Amino acid sequence: MKGRASAPAKIILFGEHFVVYGNPAILASIDRRITVSARKVREGKVTIKSDIAAGEFEGSTFKLIEGVNARSALDPLYFAAKHALDARKQKTGLEITIKSDIPYGVGLGSSAASLVATIAAIESLLGRPDKKKICESAIEAERIIHKNSSGADCYVSTFGGLIHYSRGGGFKKVDAKSKLSLVIGDTGIKHNTGELVSSVRKLKEANQMAFGGLMSQAKDICNQALAALGSGNIDQLGVLMNESQLLLERLGVSHEKADELIDVARRSGALGAKMTGAGGGGAIIALAANKEDSERIAAGIKAAGFAAFEVEIDPKGLIVG
Ligand code: MEV
Repeated sequence: MKGRASAPAKIILFGEHFVVYGNPAILASIDRRITVSARKVREGKVTIKSDIAAGEFEGSTFKLIEGVNARSALDPLYFAAKHALDARKQKTGLEITIKSDIPYGVGLGSSAASLVATIAAIESLLGRPDKKKICESAIEAERIIHKNSSGADCYVSTFGGLIHYSRGGGFKKVDAKSKLSLVIGDTGIKHNTGELVSSVRKLKEANQMAFGGLMSQAKDICNQALAALGSGNIDQLGVLMNESQLLLERLGVSHEKADELIDVARRSGALGAKMTGAGGGGAIIALAANKEDSERIAAGIKAAGFAAFEVEIDPKGLIVG
């Protein structure tokens, strides 16, 4: 018997970093997924195999199967698995297999999606999965990697679609009047979300007044973006993405390669472009007026020597079974 689940990647359209301090963010799950299967094995042993790391946990011992920094990549997944087993007073061991078509470490939510799908696969093996509880457990496990996680990535991966999220305020689905044509460009530069969030915290502590000003501008942009989505004003949405990028540059979380890709996307006809997620390299998103333009933007980014792909918003979120 196997438990199976899949969870989508995400993009943050507005509000990354500011969402950690209570601001709203607008984010969407996209049509790239992580699929996890879980099966019972002999008591006490939890084996986790993914495309980037594999290892075996037994009590407090860890045996590397393969991968660089495998332990730190697998620890949160093991924590989540143990938590799911303990909550159901289950002593069984587990073999967990993770397959991903989400580029990892570039801000597209691969770690949140792998946690959500892993917990859901185990829950479907052991009992009745509950989305809200899965999301809460995934956030708890994510906080091992980055202790100030806003929870936004786990929410959008679990519940799917285009959402407006704030810490404390939860999430609301956003109805976009027009379909969004979006392109992702990948600098290929892996980042560490925890370190980037800490660097913003230091900046905030060093200059509370200036940070407060950026927070209120970011909130304003997010509110305007919500109105633009509601009225289908795509041009305005693009302008707001460019404004949001300026704020992220002020936080010092963008990267010269991301800036280069944003520039290429804009010169190839994007209505707006910005980094997405924690920054420090990672991925950028560009908004196009239509499908033809998004193809041109993706081609422009590829011609500059980087990976690019068009994406659609995934309405489903977590799928169990
Ligand atoms: C990371 O995808 C988004 C950040 O805002 C961190 C968080 O929300 O926890 C940078």
